[in-house]
Amino acid sequence: MFMKIRPYQTKDLKNVTDICEETAFDSYKKDPVKLKTVPINFLDYFIEQEKEHVLVAVDEKDEAIGYIEATTSYPKFVQAMEQIYLPRLQQIDPSEIEFEKRFLLALSCIEDWPSHLHINLNGSYQHQGIGTKLIQALIDLLKKEGFHSLAICCCQQGSNSYGFYKHFGFKEIFDYGKGIVSLGIKF
Ligand SMILES: CC(C)(COP(=O)(O)OP(=O)(O)OC[C@H]1O[C@@H](n2cnc3c(N)ncnc32)[C@H](O)[C@@H]1OP(=O)(O)O)[C@@H](O)C(=O)NCCC(=O)NCCS
Repeated sequence: MFMKIRPYQTKDLKNVTDICEETAFDSYKKDPVKLKTVPINFLDYFIEQEKEHVLVAVDEKDEAIGYIEATTSYPKFVQAMEQIYLPRLQQIDPSEIEFEKRFLLALSCIEDWPSHLHINLNGSYQHQGIGTKLIQALIDLLKKEGFHSLAICCCQQGSNSYGFYKHFGFKEIFDYGKGIVSLGIKF
């Protein structure tokens, strides 16, 4: 199977937004308004404020089939979420603001891990090693820039993605209770 990893380009916007929505929780997929909030919570900051840390996996037509994104600055991320993205949520579905505020609170527990990531693949391309290659490519990029750690905030123990991160070498770095943890890796 052909697959290449390259930096995000503006032309990838539709595909990455579709993938972000496709991989959302079912409760969000059932509600078109709620679904519109998912990219605001998990994608817009990265492609608008830090696109140098967004990589896409593309197929033979150079179309994005998955992406990984990271911030390398905890304070920059929090400031932009508060100033730009919470107001954006307010316009679509104010009830989602509480969710994002809880995420920011959880993130504050791992603020000494400045870089955190999100990763999502189109369903037809999962379990073929692409996620592993995307994480490795992101780590290689961060290393070149002088960063030495990467975290994922709020992962359910025993979930599919938990198994994936643990297999890659991530360790639990914070326990929020009820099986929710943050994971991190040093390099
Ligand atoms: C999670 C995700 C990024 C993993 O990428 P992937 O390309 O499917 O994973 P890989 O094929 O690279 O898997 C590497 C290893 O991780 C582990 N792994 C992967 N998926 C797993 C799962 N569902 N359960 C347990 N372990 C898993 C396996 O050990 C696997 O190695 P193996 O294939 O030799 O058994 C991808 O499946 C995805 O986008 N899922 C839906 C959205 C999502 O959950 N995103 C993460 C939100 S935090």
